[in-house]
Amino acid sequence: MNEIIIEGKCGKSRITTGEYIDGIDRHFPGKNLVFITDENVKRLYPAVFDKHPVIEIGTGEKIKTLDTVSLIFERLVREEADRTFFIVGVGGGIVCDIAGFTASTYMRGVRFGLVPTTLLAQVDAGVGGKNGVNFMGYKNLVGLFTQPEFIVCAPGFLSTLPEKEILCGLGEVAKHAILSGEELFGFVRENCDNLLKLDHETVDHVVKESLLLKSEIVNRDERESGERMKLNLGHTTAHAIEKTDNRITHGEAVAAGLKMAAVISYQQGKTDRETCRRVCELVDRMGFPETKGLSSQKIKEAILHDKKRDGESINFVMIKNIGSVEIVREAIDTVNDWIDKAVPYLDKKSI
Ligand SMILES: NC(=O)c1ccc[n+]([C@@H]2O[C@H](COP(=O)([O-])OP(=O)(O)OC[C@H]3O[C@@H](n4cnc5c(N)ncnc54)[C@H](O)[C@@H]3O)[C@@H](O)[C@H]2O)c1
Repeated sequence: MNEIIIEGKCGKSRITTGEYIDGIDRHFPGKNLVFITDENVKRLYPAVFDKHPVIEIGTGEKIKTLDTVSLIFERLVREEADRTFFIVGVGGGIVCDIAGFTASTYMRGVRFGLVPTTLLAQVDAGVGGKNGVNFMGYKNLVGLFTQPEFIVCAPGFLSTLPEKEILCGLGEVAKHAILSGEELFGFVRENCDNLLKLDHETVDHVVKESLLLKSEIVNRDERESGERMKLNLGHTTAHAIEKTDNRITHGEAVAAGLKMAAVISYQQGKTDRETCRRVCELVDRMGFPETKGLSSQKIKEAILHDKKRDGESINFVMIKNIGSVEIVREAIDTVNDWIDKAVPYLDKKSI
């Protein structure tokens, strides 16, 4: 078991990795606790919830809305929850984002903790203090920064994850490996098979290293005014790719987004051919289905509607080396041009 601390203006978080599901409740306060979870997690892990009231929500991005938060508020009122109550969100990134937002706004904020149960939530969504909901079709448009008091990661939860969800998490693992440096990059490259098989020791190491990386960045730039933007590596195009075709999963889009970032970085002279090749090879080794035939026109249209766009420019994370990136601010027309040049290379085996 390992502990990592995030200490920011928006609160202090204690992160525990390598916990056993049976030992989870030692992290919870003994009384006035309410769980928020989704129907799948409640069905798969009923014993986690047997001592306290449970508010169950549905699943899928479409329920990550203010309406769902409103239903949770109603339940909290019916439970007569006051400011002494403690909310524990147990689930994937959607539950974590909703539980954090609900806890941070109910009665101007009650204490909360998170137990992420998907790989994506353990390596990424559960930590960092960002929470919120989608609004009018825009992802995470309404939300705030508040740190949960604790985040407890138990690899045991991952054993029931469908492969599609494992791949979603592996996309973020690949991103962290590129940002972190040769050590984690090499470890992930050599252990792709073990990661896909969810070998506990391998997953535990990768979750811990991902959280160390993310917590160090969040400790330096909690509210994403500078360095935290590094964590968007591959994601400007990934979010756009996801919007071009609803059959493309988030994991596949992140995989394609990382490859696109590598190709653009090489084509624009920020990195060398070998680094570009290594990033693409790492992503391919993780077993993502190939996303062939992407439409650069549709990607560009989706970027135009990105809420992170600031006027006519956009931040783009370039790869310099393994472990080193650069955030560049460029006119949308220039980024569009990069996309046109990079997309044809995603279909090829070599650059
Ligand atoms: N706040 C952040 O910093 C941050 C970062 C990245 C992503 N996110 C958000 O995270 C969300 C995606 O999270 P996600 O990929 O975890 O999706 P999710 O929460 O939808 O979970 C995916 C599916 O797995 C199921 N599930 C959860 N735990 C399970 C388990 N142990 N076994 C079997 N099934 C299980 C869920 O019921 C769901 O059907 C998005 O809304 C995204 O915006 C937030």
